[in-house]
Amino acid sequence: MSTGDFLRPLQWRDGRLYCLDQRRLPQRQEEVACADVRAVAEAIREMVVRGAPAIGIAAAYGVALAARDRYGEDAAHWRQALEQDMQLLAATRPTAVNLFWALERMRARAAALEGDPFPSLLAEAQRIHEEDVAANQRMGELGAELIAQDPGAVLTHCNAGALATGGYGTALGVVRAACAQGSISTVYAGETRPWLQGARLTAWELIHDGIPVTLIAEGAAAHLLRGGEVRWVIVGADRIAANGDVANKIGTYGLAVAARHHGVGFMVVAPTSTIDPATPSGEAIPIECRAEAEVLCLAGRRVAATGARAWNPVFDVTPAGLVDVLVTEKGVIHRPDASRIASLLEASDEKMY
Ligand code: MRU
Repeated sequence: MSTGDFLRPLQWRDGRLYCLDQRRLPQRQEEVACADVRAVAEAIREMVVRGAPAIGIAAAYGVALAARDRYGEDAAHWRQALEQDMQLLAATRPTAVNLFWALERMRARAAALEGDPFPSLLAEAQRIHEEDVAANQRMGELGAELIAQDPGAVLTHCNAGALATGGYGTALGVVRAACAQGSISTVYAGETRPWLQGARLTAWELIHDGIPVTLIAEGAAAHLLRGGEVRWVIVGADRIAANGDVANKIGTYGLAVAARHHGVGFMVVAPTSTIDPATPSGEAIPIECRAEAEVLCLAGRRVAATGARAWNPVFDVTPAGLVDVLVTEKGVIHRPDASRIASLLEASDEKMY
């Protein structure tokens, strides 16, 4: 079994950001080369790059590319132009807070720079990238300790793996670490309509790691959880509000309700860059609604009856009260709430709450 290190969806090479095109997987492994900030923004908007931490990392490289070009165009006024480019990146997708977190970090770094900003901003983007992989590996260890206390089958949703991050994955990082320790009997994955991140991406990356995966249609989840084989539902997050409410891929909320009803543990795995202290509760999290065609069509072909409309919110909010455990790189919080989250963010060392 490999460690998931084979898979780096984002790579900086030859002065460009190369993104593994997640719209084409698993049928085709192709990269999209982004040579400027506009290309990075388009890659995020069009789902070439997806998953909250990966979106943030790609945006950070986008800022570095923008700084290189803006400084080259007009060395005296690059800061104002860079701010416009950051607005372009910020407008790509509204829910994943890692995007705004990464832009803020790049903005702060840029503010301190004199002369050519590109080398320092590229180094900052690379640091954000490497820190994300390290956080995922640490969360993998922490989450695996919890699975070992209640081993069995697990159910995951969407793709919170290497593809959604700098590498290794959040929820799938825990799955990787727990599988290596022999604590997981079966990994179930929901197919995740309409983009099929579970069927296409989660299944692909787990199989590459030698971890068998069993797909279910989303509608099968409650029936599966009632059966008693699954001990944990493990998911990632796109934004965690200050009170612990969790925005994640549409369908997560229903899984949390069913998990609580059937006494199955509900684990959220996310780096602290996904926690947004400025958003008080889930009600304030902007939920992205995408095109109707994503629901009305399958693989580019219309399958819905002519005349039918579609509603396509792509995230939902799970109330903190349904989360049994939040695993971050700074520590594990049982039954997250506002005060436990605030203490975690203030603590410099890793702790259990
Ligand atoms: O629309 P997507 O594919 O970007 O949504 C991704 C998810 O919802 C993931 O579960 C989330 O970003 C966590 S990824 C580590």
